[in-house]
Amino acid sequence: MSAFLFDKNLFHQIDTNAYNFNSEGILFPEVGKNLILRPLSADDYDKGFLEVLQELTDVGNVTRDQFLSRYHYMKACDGSYYIIVIEDIIKNLIVGSATLVIEQKFIHECSVRGRIEDVVVSQNYQKKNLGKVLISTLCAISEKLNCYKITLECKDNLLPFYENFGFKKELNNSNYLQKRFNKS
Ligand SMILES: CC(C)(COP(=O)(O)OP(=O)(O)OC[C@H]1O[C@@H](n2cnc3c(N)ncnc32)[C@H](O)[C@@H]1OP(=O)(O)O)[C@@H](O)C(=O)NCCC(=O)NCCS
Repeated sequence: MSAFLFDKNLFHQIDTNAYNFNSEGILFPEVGKNLILRPLSADDYDKGFLEVLQELTDVGNVTRDQFLSRYHYMKACDGSYYIIVIEDIIKNLIVGSATLVIEQKFIHECSVRGRIEDVVVSQNYQKKNLGKVLISTLCAISEKLNCYKITLECKDNLLPFYENFGFKKELNNSNYLQKRFNKS
């Protein structure tokens, strides 16, 4: 059984000409020899994965059992959850992560769409192109999986960041609605 959330051979099937691979994942010598990109692993609970997410939003107290239960649930939904992480392999530390969720549709001839969620690079590792690597990888995976579109929500100040990858505001459909439920 694979040690990762999804088969990392997928990286070999996407257009990552600029990337170098080794057995652990994708290497980025131009960014730092100590950094690799790979799918989320069950071991990442001990490598600070949740602490990185905490830099994005409230994570709360998630026990190892809760983490593993959610991880295995996602893994069993084969083809739905693509969580990628960047690890500093000298420090055994997760320093960035982003999620692609694939939604199965009936429309557009039973097509699929992607949603990018939970994009974060740890503060000490920002401005080294890691955000760029995360988003371009998820875009390439989405294309490989035949998504007809990918969407995300972001704050106004990040519009220029995402526009770099071809994301645009939908001119005729700019109402993003949400209803939140109070947690008990
Ligand atoms: C947004 C975030 C993921 C960017 O990661 P990063 O690794 O620092 O970004 P990169 O170094 O890859 O930047 C790539 C490009 O985007 C630009 N960029 C990065 N952050 C930006 C910002 N906040 N606003 C505008 N441009 C930005 C960079 O200048 C760079 O441009 P260049 O290629 O012309 O030099 C990171 O700042 C972060 O985790 N922020 C906190 C969490 C967050 O807001 N997540 C996004 C939720 S939607």
